[in-house]
Amino acid sequence: MEETPLKRGSEPMHPVEVQPARPAMAGAISRLIAECVRGSYTGLLEGTAVQRLVAECSLPRIQAETGIPGGAPGWLGWLVATTPDGTVIGAAAGGVPLPGAGEVYRLCVSPQRRGNCVGSLLLAALTEQQREYDAETQAVTLLSEKDPAVGFFRCHGFQGSGTRLTRPLRAIADLSRHPDDRSEAHPMPALECCSGTC
Ligand SMILES: CC(C)(COP(=O)(O)OP(=O)(O)OC[C@H]1O[C@@H](n2cnc3c(N)ncnc32)[C@H](O)[C@@H]1OP(=O)(O)O)[C@@H](O)C(=O)NCCC(=O)NCCS
Repeated sequence: MEETPLKRGSEPMHPVEVQPARPAMAGAISRLIAECVRGSYTGLLEGTAVQRLVAECSLPRIQAETGIPGGAPGWLGWLVATTPDGTVIGAAAGGVPLPGAGEVYRLCVSPQRRGNCVGSLLLAALTEQQREYDAETQAVTLLSEKDPAVGFFRCHGFQGSGTRLTRPLRAIADLSRHPDDRSEAHPMPALECCSGTC
């Protein structure tokens, strides 16, 4: 996949590449998810729930998952966002477990790299994968209604109440068309974020 320059943020701007994860990246992915889970959910969920979530991203598990390259619709594999020196600064995983229905299973960006469009790039890559498997909708199940990532998903057109948020992918595709040609049946979500990369 092509390198994409970052737009802004707390770190200097560098190109970021989104690519399928290699097994050698499992340790970095595992550590990143554990850091994000602790940062997002400590104080929001019960301590044992946070521990369970961290355990779910243990190195052996991520090693096993990165060894599965994807290709089964329900599990399309891990994607990573890396800097030019190969540092993993974001990770995501998704699939199309039911016909037409894409799911975001995991999405996280290193706390030091947030606000630079990396999350949007990963979400766009997941979406591209899922479209190839004929996904017409995309959903994410958050762990709490107060999940800190709610704002990110709403910014990307996800809607819903509670912890289950969805968006129609056809409307996102319509972004590339002239406004007069866009389908009335799928109102375009307000995507002001990240210069339309999502
Ligand atoms: C949610 C997350 C992926 C966003 O990543 P990011 O790289 O900072 O997102 P982006 O820079 O692409 O942001 C895109 C847009 O969403 C908005 N946004 C991002 N996070 C937001 C938040 N928490 N609340 C409101 N809006 C948010 C940004 O303002 C941006 O819009 P703008 O360009 O118009 O300013 C990141 O904050 C994260 O990893 N959070 C923790 C996730 C987690 O704990 N996952 C569990 C383990 S898998």
